[in-house]
Amino acid sequence: MIVIRGGTVVSATGAAPADVVIDGERISALLAPGSLLATDAAGRADRIIEADGMYVLPGGVDVHVHLQLEMTPDATSADDFTTGTTAAAWGGTTTVIDFAGQQVGMAVGDAIEARHGEADGRCVVDYGFHLAMGDVHPQSLLDLGAAIDDGISSCKLFMAYPGVWYSDDGQILDAMFRAKDLGAMVMMHAENGIAIDVLRRRAGEAAALDPASLAPAMHGRTRPAVLEAEAVNRAVALAEVAEAPLYIVHLSSAEALEAVASARHDGRNVFAETCPQYLHLSFEEHLDQHGIDGLRHICSPPLRSQQGHDDLWRGLRTDQLSVVSTDHCPFCDNEKLLGATDFRDTPNGLGSIEHRMDLLHQGVVADEISLARWVDVCSTTPARLFGMYPRKGVIQPGADADIVLYDPAAQHVLSAETHHMAIDHSAWEGMAITGQVRTVLSRGSVVIDDRTFVGRAGHGQFVRRGLSELLV
Ligand code: URP
Ligand code: ZN
Ligand code: ZN
Repeated sequence: MIVIRGGTVVSATGAAPADVVIDGERISALLAPGSLLATDAAGRADRIIEADGMYVLPGGVDVHVHLQLEMTPDATSADDFTTGTTAAAWGGTTTVIDFAGQQVGMAVGDAIEARHGEADGRCVVDYGFHLAMGDVHPQSLLDLGAAIDDGISSCKLFMAYPGVWYSDDGQILDAMFRAKDLGAMVMMHAENGIAIDVLRRRAGEAAALDPASLAPAMHGRTRPAVLEAEAVNRAVALAEVAEAPLYIVHLSSAEALEAVASARHDGRNVFAETCPQYLHLSFEEHLDQHGIDGLRHICSPPLRSQQGHDDLWRGLRTDQLSVVSTDHCPFCDNEKLLGATDFRDTPNGLGSIEHRMDLLHQGVVADEISLARWVDVCSTTPARLFGMYPRKGVIQPGADADIVLYDPAAQHVLSAETHHMAIDHSAWEGMAITGQVRTVLSRGSVVIDDRTFVGRAGHGQFVRRGLSELLV
């Protein structure tokens, strides 16, 4: 038995001082301050963790990560399931959801089995999978049923990446009808990939006269917000026709947010996540830079203008945006440099799995979101939306003892010198942070102990998820 004493327990609805009693892998009680000695927990505790001055949070739930993702034969995302979940733990995230990718010609079951083979026994914290469906046809849609039975209750489709992951509107509609019948969540990468490919081709054609047309900034210019908004609007319309639930991943722009906000205003089962990079990093500061800094910040959708940050923070405050996940997909410099002379050859993605709780806490410090909303978008709502609640995302008796002790006053600076992700640079280099994770428990086991790593690969278990509990 472990007791966490003297901290302030923060939930999605507020904060209050309380002691937390952990029995085995689960939380067994929340006690009013000072009442511990009157219970038998004080005598039975193997360990009392003092949490004076700390927030005691439900472990973070990051529902969008890409560990060990082979993007091309020359580029695989840098973190494997051990380094990625170790870094997640350092940052206060105790559950991640990655993707089992079904590529063209592959059976859904084989894709899932292969991903299990890569993750099994290697994770430090708990993990799950979505299905990423790149080959929508009658058999793969049939197989979606078996995936749900196996705890994979959500499926990502792509309006981008023609010829690779792309689905056309007919395939998307078919998949949505099936998802609606099964109660599965459809996740959408909403960018108009067909139009984007025209802009990319034209950038290539322009290079003979103007080499700058292949610089990193052109990654942003060939993926304009209007083509994200168009895709979100289309996805929302298709979901309306099929009456299917829809979750827009990595939403990056105010234009796209408008479409989500309007659907939510109408009471639809439409949700969206944004990512820390779209709240903190900008096109001007990073993507519009020649050389390695620009390449390091290539991700899709691209970083947008600084002016749009306020809209996304407002979206988080007002529940237009439901979740913040990382879309963690980092590549080392040697792989980012594949695009040194042509941005189109740069593997897309950046790394934040370790920093999500800190980066969102800056929103609390800056009064953009409340303390409760921080916990809500980083832990509680992702757990509820993706069928893990109340096992995950909450500190209450019966829940998994995934708990973070967070020091709100600590000051530190993000850097590749100190992070635990397996990338040789940081998209966040030099950013000053207020607040820091001190201690992390995953299912009752301490994995970060007062900023010392004491976890082990293999502790993390696959989470068989149920259906979303937030659908109306
Ligand atoms: O640039 C990104 N987002 N890389 C990861 C793949 C994806 O589309 O989520
Ligand atoms: Zn995507
Ligand atoms: Zn992604």
